[in-house]
Amino acid sequence: MAATQKPLIKFSCKAKDGEQKPETTTKNGETPLGKFDRRNLLVGLGGLYGAASLAANPLAFAAPATPDFKDCVNATEPNGTSINCCPPAASNITAYVPSAACVSRTRMSAQTFTTDSNYYRKYMKAIEKMKKLKSTDPRNFTEQANVHCAYCDGGYTQQGNPNLLYEIHGSWLFFPWHRWYLYFFEKICANLLDDDSFALPFWNWDDPTGMKIPNIFVNDPDKSPLYDSNRNPDHLPPTVINLDWSYGDPTVDDKQQIKSNLSLMYTQMITQSKTQTDFFGKAYRSGDDIVTLDGAGSIELSPHNVVHSWTGTMTDPNNPIDMGALYSAGRDPIFYAHHANVDRMWNIWLNQLGGTNFTDSDWLNSTFIFYNEEAKPVSVRVGDCLDNTKLGYTYEDVPIAWLDAKPTARAKARTLPSARDPAQVFPTTLEKAINVLVKRPKKSGSGSAEEILVIEGIEYDKDDVNASRPEYTEYLGNFSNVPHGHGMKVKTNRRFRITEVLKDLGVNNYESVLVTLVPKSGPLKINGVKIEFDSS
Ligand code: C2O
Repeated sequence: MAATQKPLIKFSCKAKDGEQKPETTTKNGETPLGKFDRRNLLVGLGGLYGAASLAANPLAFAAPATPDFKDCVNATEPNGTSINCCPPAASNITAYVPSAACVSRTRMSAQTFTTDSNYYRKYMKAIEKMKKLKSTDPRNFTEQANVHCAYCDGGYTQQGNPNLLYEIHGSWLFFPWHRWYLYFFEKICANLLDDDSFALPFWNWDDPTGMKIPNIFVNDPDKSPLYDSNRNPDHLPPTVINLDWSYGDPTVDDKQQIKSNLSLMYTQMITQSKTQTDFFGKAYRSGDDIVTLDGAGSIELSPHNVVHSWTGTMTDPNNPIDMGALYSAGRDPIFYAHHANVDRMWNIWLNQLGGTNFTDSDWLNSTFIFYNEEAKPVSVRVGDCLDNTKLGYTYEDVPIAWLDAKPTARAKARTLPSARDPAQVFPTTLEKAINVLVKRPKKSGSGSAEEILVIEGIEYDKDDVNASRPEYTEYLGNFSNVPHGHGMKVKTNRRFRITEVLKDLGVNNYESVLVTLVPKSGPLKINGVKIEFDSS
């Protein structure tokens, strides 16, 4: 194939965003974030951080959840093995505020690069160089993968709450943490290549042309540093990805799979992403227990989690590796392309779907530490990563086919079959599909609150539930999870917006809804099913 590589745009501006600017200080010597310098926070003032917001809102006694950076402990693999993924101890941490003079990096869709393109060679070179750095260098590839491990498998406890683990999945930290993580990863690549214009590729799994593992990640298994042998052998190209996959799913033909995937994207990005909490996930503040928070946003659950398990779950579903488990996901170079696309969804939700960022100070002031391209530790705030152009990067503008892939109603629902009342059925262990007839709540007054179907108290080891297929209106979505090391037995809820779905099905005047729950892998306990009004 001829090299039809898109030109990597060369910019003449010298990005200034490598600078570390000291915190701007107001005239009375306070930082804009309140009386406490962010750096103090990092060494143990976590509990005091909420003081500023407390004054403004006396009912909210809160503070951002902050990892105890001084005390990284061993993380836990899904099988219980303890693993040390702590970064080198950091001292002299500087606060970093990006201030890119212009956008100098364009992240391009990975599937458009041929394996003889310059871009491919560059990205390979960068990863190869990262792999060759000394293992004590925090920019070393394994060290970079370990950053993800430490932040998500119990490497940190919460500052001020040593009995609680800190976690960047399953809450409103998901999008911003991964944005910062990729930002520094990309800067490290650029630095090693000595090319400021270098940008990560994104795995465009939401477009029919990108619904396979991109060739650049599978080329040359013996030599390419972008290749990882710990991927599901059944899922290598030309297999089309199933964005709703769980272990043991039958395959369908490519055309149907692509249609399903597009519908799933529509559902997750639009129908199930009406509010900030729907999209980003729930608030996670100091003192919150991530295990019971039940806070993942729609995109994090699916397709994000699913792309992980689809890629990294081998023939033994109990032994997911690399992409399939959070502690090891960063060891596969495809991780960074996967997350670039997740990050791109944030942009699409804001710029094309009318979404807005949280303005909650606990979100904006949530702080992380990374090692930058010079191997120096920096602390960054969520509030400083909300605008990707300030971070100096953008995404190639590619078509978004799922924008008009709204699931369709199969046949008008007629009278409901008889099914039992949830009270007679739950709690139960789901071994085969069950139907329950769930009563809808009565509207009081003129409220326009949306109805939410809640599947309560789902208990699993590692697992998935699912029903119907994404291309049909009645399909609400699945429950998916990438194995974590901590909280082996997790109890959670899964919530689905149904107001629009019921309207589209033409059954908005029905008093009850028939809910079908289908277990997909492993038995799963469920405590109840109900419909309530949205209270967020
Ligand atoms: Cu931090 Cu895709 O996981």
